[in-house]
Amino acid sequence: MPSARSTALNLLVASLLISGALGIAALLVKEFGTLQARVLLTSLTVSAASILALASATALERRRYRTLAKSGIAVTAVAAVCILIIIWFDPRDDDFIRLVGSVATIAIALAHCSLLSLATLAPRHEWVQRAAFASAGLLASLLVIFYWTEFDEEWYLRILGIASIVVTVLTILVPVMHKIAGGEAAGIRSVPPPVNLADVFGDINEYWSPRVIASLNSGHVVRAARVKGTFPMHSHADQDEFFFVVSGRLDIAFADNTVGLAEGEGLLVPAGVEHAPSSADGAEILLFEPESTVPTGN
Ligand code: NI
Repeated sequence: MPSARSTALNLLVASLLISGALGIAALLVKEFGTLQARVLLTSLTVSAASILALASATALERRRYRTLAKSGIAVTAVAAVCILIIIWFDPRDDDFIRLVGSVATIAIALAHCSLLSLATLAPRHEWVQRAAFASAGLLASLLVIFYWTEFDEEWYLRILGIASIVVTVLTILVPVMHKIAGGEAAGIRSVPPPVNLADVFGDINEYWSPRVIASLNSGHVVRAARVKGTFPMHSHADQDEFFFVVSGRLDIAFADNTVGLAEGEGLLVPAGVEHAPSSADGAEILLFEPESTVPTGN
């Protein structure tokens, strides 16, 4: 089943393409009637709804605040359907339009909060995130009350203005604090995707051309290489090099002997020891060494 996020993304791309095509068509065709306008507005509505749903769907993939994200998607869908009803059926009902305005405002507030929920703040800063949610909720409520009461008392408008400013300031603060928290947690990396050796080797076309498949412990790597024939004798002054044979057979020649490695066998070549790896029939190997190790030695 496709995720909510990819569905929203596909809808967004499709509706943007349709809006773009219709917009261009509208400019090229002389007769631009109600139908064309409705189709264009429909497409724009779906685009806008997809953007809001995408924000919530992204938050849905995190564990925290899932209810918020789910409500965001649901309310956005309701708002989009209501707006489409207005576009296509033109109901001249003020209450219905107020209702749609209210639902759309709540949808925007939920999408806004969903985006803010993506930030990970240090525990001592989490109140900023909660204050941002609260202020966005307050602003949405004040707007909805305003639609229904047309309450244009000066003090009410002042409060609306103050709420907007608070929402804006907190919205800027949350990602800044996320950045600070990220800096404090520096050193904790995300887990990279798993390595599939069959894919890695299948992708290597050149012999003796090691490719990094993992970087670890600042400066150390695991490399994968396909080898065939003989590599020139060399040594690495301060770098140990561990060879591991995944398939085939690898011979490592030293100054006075040669060690043969079969599949599943490995050998440590200590720093400074001269060695010349070779494989008559070809082999797939892993190398464990510092990142700065060059195959030809130094
Ligand atoms: Ni070497």
